[in-house]
Amino acid sequence: MIETRIIPLVDDAAERQVAERLSRGELVAVPTETVYGLAADAANGAAVAGIFEAKGRPRFNPLIAHVTGRDMAERYAEVDPLAGRLIERFWPGPLTLVLPLRGDAPLHPLVTAGLPTVALRSAQGSLPRVLAHLGRAVAAPSANRSGRVSPTTAAHVLRTLDGRIDAVADGGAATHGIESTIVQPRGDHVMLLRPGAVTASEIEAAIGLPVRRHDGSTILAPGQMRSHYAPHGRVRLGVSQPDADEHYIAFGPVPDASPSGPRAVFQLSERGDLREAASRLFEALSTFDAPDIDRIAVAPIPMEGLGEAINDRLARAAADR
Ligand code: TXA
Ligand code: MG
Repeated sequence: MIETRIIPLVDDAAERQVAERLSRGELVAVPTETVYGLAADAANGAAVAGIFEAKGRPRFNPLIAHVTGRDMAERYAEVDPLAGRLIERFWPGPLTLVLPLRGDAPLHPLVTAGLPTVALRSAQGSLPRVLAHLGRAVAAPSANRSGRVSPTTAAHVLRTLDGRIDAVADGGAATHGIESTIVQPRGDHVMLLRPGAVTASEIEAAIGLPVRRHDGSTILAPGQMRSHYAPHGRVRLGVSQPDADEHYIAFGPVPDASPSGPRAVFQLSERGDLREAASRLFEALSTFDAPDIDRIAVAPIPMEGLGEAINDRLARAAADR
């Protein structure tokens, strides 16, 4: 347990303090107009892994990245004309846009769960000023333990996260109490991915294009597809002694490099730290996702804390396809 500080978000000095804490990799709950978010520097993998750890989330689903506005959004994503109109009309506000991720985006892959798209929004209130001081985006899902109600006050945040996060920035009550609407602009229409504080008819009226609801025939949350994350080669889990023709994803000390040892080793965390391992997992899988790598072995990862989400992700990588 750590001591969770409460920072009344009353002036510029307080907003700078929150930015300063985020830049050090701290986890800070922040107010938005929808619900309180649990923020971490979106470029810092260990900090983003800390979000999953603090929330007790059993899997790495993609998170919303919060930006100051259109200018910052363009550093992370391709903003086409339709996306531009939605931004113009609804930001700052409770509309999240899923957009193509830029190849050079300064974003840790845990934020997007390795997807080629990123969910962006610019919230109302003091958060954009905090982000302007920070100079980059934060990832921020709702600031509650997994499976609990989304919090609308600092006191609600403390109810489930006290002692698990570094600070709560108290900016008063969130007015909507319901999460942002998530949409994906698709040129001639908008796909509704999650209903929320902005209604479909408000969006249709603003842009003069139809909003289509997901009909269930296609899977929109690729993270839920069992083999979505699978690399080219076959993946074996729970392996302490990798074969000579395997590429090895290690956790903790690697068994003596004998002549018959694995072809190559990607170390998730030499010291067996689950937060470090979580922050390196996507890089490990993409490094070994190559046409000439046929067999990948992965060390056993304990099923505690972040280990649950890491093992969920690895099980998808190893699933039959
Ligand atoms: O109101 C809100 O949106 C709150 C406040 C704190 O801003 N945030 C929030 O964040 O609800 P989060 O991380 O809990 O919401 C993430 C949702 C998930 O349902 C996830 O599947 C979806 O956004 N999402 C994120 N990135 C996505 C992507 N690239 N493609 C599709 N869905 C995505
Ligand atoms: Mg939530």
